[in-house]
Amino acid sequence: MDPAARVAELRRQIRHHEERYYVANQPEISDAEFDALMEELQQLESDHPDLVSTDSPTQRVSGRVAEGFQTVAHAEPMLSLDNAYNEDELRAFDDRVRRGLSEAGAAPAAVDYVAELKIDGVSIALTYVDGVFARGATRGNGSQGEDVTSNVRTIRVIPLQLNEPVTGSIEVRGEVYLPRAAFEKMNEERANTGEILFANPRNAAAGALRNLDPGLVSKRGLRAFTYQLVSAGTRLTSHATTLEQLGRWGLPVEGHWRRCQGIDALVEFCHEWADKRRTLGFDTDGVVIKVDALEQRRRLGATSKFPRWAVAFKFPAEQKTTLLKQIAVNVGRTGAVTPFAVLDPIFVGGTTVSMATLHNADDIARKDIRERDWVVVEKAGDVIPRVVGPVLTRRPEDSVPWVMPSTCPECGSELHREEEEAVWRCENVSCPARLQRGLEHFASRGAMNIEGLGESLVEQLITSGLVRDYADVYHLTAEQLAGLISTSEREGKTIERRFGEKNAAKVIEQIARSKTNDFWRLIYGLGIRHIGERGAQVLARAFGSMETLETASLHALQATSEIGPVLAASARSWLDEPRNRELIARLRTAGVRMEIPESERAQSSGPGPLSGRTYVITGTLASMSREEATAALERLGAKVTGSVSKKTTAVIVGEEAGSKADKARALGVTMLDEAAFQALIKA
Ligand code: IVH
Repeated sequence: MDPAARVAELRRQIRHHEERYYVANQPEISDAEFDALMEELQQLESDHPDLVSTDSPTQRVSGRVAEGFQTVAHAEPMLSLDNAYNEDELRAFDDRVRRGLSEAGAAPAAVDYVAELKIDGVSIALTYVDGVFARGATRGNGSQGEDVTSNVRTIRVIPLQLNEPVTGSIEVRGEVYLPRAAFEKMNEERANTGEILFANPRNAAAGALRNLDPGLVSKRGLRAFTYQLVSAGTRLTSHATTLEQLGRWGLPVEGHWRRCQGIDALVEFCHEWADKRRTLGFDTDGVVIKVDALEQRRRLGATSKFPRWAVAFKFPAEQKTTLLKQIAVNVGRTGAVTPFAVLDPIFVGGTTVSMATLHNADDIARKDIRERDWVVVEKAGDVIPRVVGPVLTRRPEDSVPWVMPSTCPECGSELHREEEEAVWRCENVSCPARLQRGLEHFASRGAMNIEGLGESLVEQLITSGLVRDYADVYHLTAEQLAGLISTSEREGKTIERRFGEKNAAKVIEQIARSKTNDFWRLIYGLGIRHIGERGAQVLARAFGSMETLETASLHALQATSEIGPVLAASARSWLDEPRNRELIARLRTAGVRMEIPESERAQSSGPGPLSGRTYVITGTLASMSREEATAALERLGAKVTGSVSKKTTAVIVGEEAGSKADKARALGVTMLDEAAFQALIKA
């Protein structure tokens, strides 16, 4: 291929993947695959210096994209609003306001309020210096936000210069949002390119505002409304006149706001808009009620979280009745099997709903929800629609209670659930629904550490049929990998990419290397519920080999120090599943190490400078993880346990240590801080 064309293609791909990675947080390829693209581009550019340009990803290195946005401190904290969910709570707010004002001297019978629509978007602080737009910042944690100036500049509704001269600096606050139509268009485009859809306009607006490419942001169709003026130094005395002033400056103000005298007028406004809100082109999730007189606001003040002079009235969740056609179950990536309702499509809460959550089998039984029932469905804002309950008067005569299936709909394995748990699970790791996430975990850094075997490659391996369980990974050949072709849609064109010989060789080498991993990595990688890195290490050391572990009784597992009844039961039930035993057998045949070498076994319990001593680690250590600290102590022959007793040699106390430090103090056990611990393991 012509080097110029290849350079252009590589840049396009790299930019695409940078966006997936940094902005959307949804990478499509592994780090190794990405690095390979970058390396190829760097090589081409150094061979052909005339092709280097300032907009090449190689010239950015880890500049703007990697660093993200600058943090900025808000001059005045961006507070949140207290909520009112019904008329009583609204009246209680009015009572508080009137009491507050009377304590401060004057007690008006009816307070003047302004009611505004609550825009369901992302809050923004805009700074204008001498009337010129200078900075846009997100709310962040309220005290510090992110500088998104270059993105805000692309929002055409926000003026870059105010209509009237204003000297000095002012800060205007408001909401950036995405109109419904723009949201639907954006999701349609994403659906066409196979991207994950945004759940609602607010998430889409938040995503767009934090996109690192202002060029892209400008295409999104973001809009904004402003509703607050901070640090003005103007002669304004009321909120209503402030809104009018914002409008005169050319700033967008939502036009349906109304001055309301006393609480009754407010209640009416809230009820009115609960019905009318769907007539707008954007999402509103309530009404914000604000005391109008700025002097009264000053007297009322604020708590650490909310101003006392404002409240957000949240619209009630909309409910509709529809036919529940079927109760189906879905197998999640952790094997959790959850029931959901298949509904006759119904327009509720601003969207057409054809599925709704049913939580779990117990919930269905408690509410006695059955197939072919007419049910009440509720949807509030961006919340997932839910089935509230059945309309018993419309129940068919031959209806029968619903029963949870006893086997997995994907693979036929028997479903299990732990005592006192609501969720049923499929324990078969090779279940296709579980395989994708399971294999990603198996290959992850903390587990088998197979670099290059990330989400995208895992998906290709599963869809191509090359991998049906973890063991298949060990039978892959470089030729099979090299020939894998991934396709993606871009501007209506299908782009095909071959995995290639170089990447294939790297991954095959990684897979081979992983066979000799420490045994605990395999136990952890199998993804047994509740068995984390530490649990896997303990099991590996206690049982020494997979053979012993496989035949260990529940009693033996429970008797292991640090393994509680939950972990023991989980491990036993996993090991009892015939498909899992088969998987272990296949991994064994493939040559994956399943035991601790004799030499190490002797070492781990053998003598060392700290043998015979018992330590407990609590809190967070700055210099290493708890696992590393444990390993360091164990290498020196010490035992590390989870609970403090009089027999404990010393407790190592990190930051934010809790009850274990208290107990050590009470028992008079030696406590070591991090420096003392470092000295101990270096000694
Ligand atoms: S006033 C100190 N007015 O709602 C009071 N907020 O739930 C500042 N919001 O963080 C907020 N529309 O992002 C106000 N007309 C409106 C609003 C509004 C939407 C947002 C705002 C705030 C959140 C609180």
